[in-house]
Formats: sequence, C-alpha cells, structure tokens
Amino acid sequence: MALDPIYLATAIEAALAAGRIQRAYFRSHLTIEKKGPIDLVTAADLEVEREFRALVKQRFPSHVVLGEEGADRSAPPESGVCWIIDPVDGTTNFAHGLAIFCVSIALEVDGRTEVGVVFDPMAGELFTAERDQGAWLNGRRLAVTRSDALIDSLLVTGFPYSRRHGRREQVEIFAAFLEQARAVRRLGSAALDLAYVAAGRFDAFWEEGLHPWDIAAGALIVSEAGGLVTDYLGAPLALARGQIVASNGAVHPRVLEVIQRVAARQPSDGSF
Ligand code: IPD
Ligand code: CA
Ligand code: CA
Repeated sequence: MALDPIYLATAIEAALAAGRIQRAYFRSHLTIEKKGPIDLVTAADLEVEREFRALVKQRFPSHVVLGEEGADRSAPPESGVCWIIDPVDGTTNFAHGLAIFCVSIALEVDGRTEVGVVFDPMAGELFTAERDQGAWLNGRRLAVTRSDALIDSLLVTGFPYSRRHGRREQVEIFAAFLEQARAVRRLGSAALDLAYVAAGRFDAFWEEGLHPWDIAAGALIVSEAGGLVTDYLGAPLALARGQIVASNGAVHPRVLEVIQRVAARQPSDGSF
C-alpha cells in the first residue's frame, strides 16, 4: 500500500527548517560542547533536534523519535512508527567552519525504512527517497554508477569517534583501498557519503561504528538509486549493528573482498 504523502512532505519540511537553523549558526560564535574527547555537540545540533521533536509531537503524537541528541539513544523499536534524525551530520566539520554537513531524517515503519531525506543547506541539495519510488536530488532522479573494478572507482569512508572499534584494522582497510582504488576520500558526514553514492559521485562507501541516525536515510536513498547496501559480510544492513558497505552494486563484491581479506589477517576484536 502506498505511503501517505504527508510523511515525505513532513520530512522535507523538517529538513528545510533544519537547514535554515544550521545556516544561521554556521561560522557564528557557536557554543560547542564535548560529549567525549573528540565528539562534539553545538547549539545548532540541539536546536534542530528540539524543533523536530516538537513538530512530530504536534503532528503525529503517537510516533517515536530517535535522535542523536535525545535522552534515549537505544535502537529504533521493531514495531510502530519511528522517526530517526541526525540534526547535524558532520558536526566536526560544522564546528570548524567547514561546509560539509547536512541533516538526515528517516521514517521507519515496523522496523523498515520507508522515507529518507538528506539536506545539505550550503549546497542547496535535497536528496529524497521513498521505498519503491526512486531516489531524487532536487527533483532529478538519481542513479548509481556502473563501474565494477576498484581501479576505476572513487571510494569514501569515515572513522567513528569511539576507539573501541579496532582503529588499526580500519587503517589497514583504508590502506588496502588506497592501493587498489582510483582514490579514497573522507568527508566527515556519513549521510552525505551515502547520498553521493546514490548520486553517482562515489562508487562505494564503507564504515563501521555508525549509529542508526547516520545511515537510515542515506541507505534508503542508495537502494532507491539502484545501489546495494549490506554489512561487511554481505548480509542485509542492520541499522543497530552500525556496519555498512553501500555501493553501486557492481563493485560491491570487490569492496567486500578487500574488507574481509584484511579482517582475516587481524586478531578478532569482535567487530565482525
Ligand atoms: C559522524 C559523521 C562522520 C562519521 C562518524 C559519525 P556526526 O556523525 O557521519 O562522517 O565518520 O562516524 O559519527 O557526529 O557528525 O553526526
Ligand atoms: Ca552523524
Ligand atoms: Ca550528529
């Protein structure tokens, strides 16, 4: 059954409102706090999430909100309707005045992502997807690339703040791709990394130690652009696991091979 259009419309409305808040704070005298040694939160993160929660409460009082800056950061419920928001994805960039950040909003129904919106207010790029309806950038339909060889592929990755997630292994995977791919980038916004795979700017993205709010919207946008999204073993993405490979589909087996080959050489730290 087709989804009520109010959900995508609400996600877009909220993303545009978030973008206005982000722009107002960007490169101003920001209040920046530390959640951990390198994990930051700014007044913009807090205000975007607060406004979003107020909108959902007023429009859909029975819906749950899972947000990075909320008190309850447990996994989204397996049943019912849940909105998942990263109020600023790319907070470190944002705090340093680097214009690579976005807001990411997804809607899950009974554990399945139905709507995903990623908005970059500096570039004015609105990426949207609804299950089975394709992925779009500012009204233009998106499609992933076709390259099936690493040497012809531009890849992107990121590194989680937490050092628990085997930093040495991450660096070895990075090094292996540096040797085999055309080039590797690290932008600092997982949601934009995914949106750019959907838009054909990157051929593949991999990262672990992520949270549902980093990837829920972007993963749907990649699938709806014809791409493939799995974990490091090639199994369907599980948001709560936080491990992702998202690609054009054609180069996916090559990406998994490299990750698994490096992992096989490492003493297990339980992250696979
Ligand atoms: C981070 C970004 C970054 C990724 C980190 C995320 P935040 O999110 O998406 O690209 O490498 O793992 O935590 O903190 O900027 O919302
Ligand atoms: Ca994030
Ligand atoms: Ca964030």
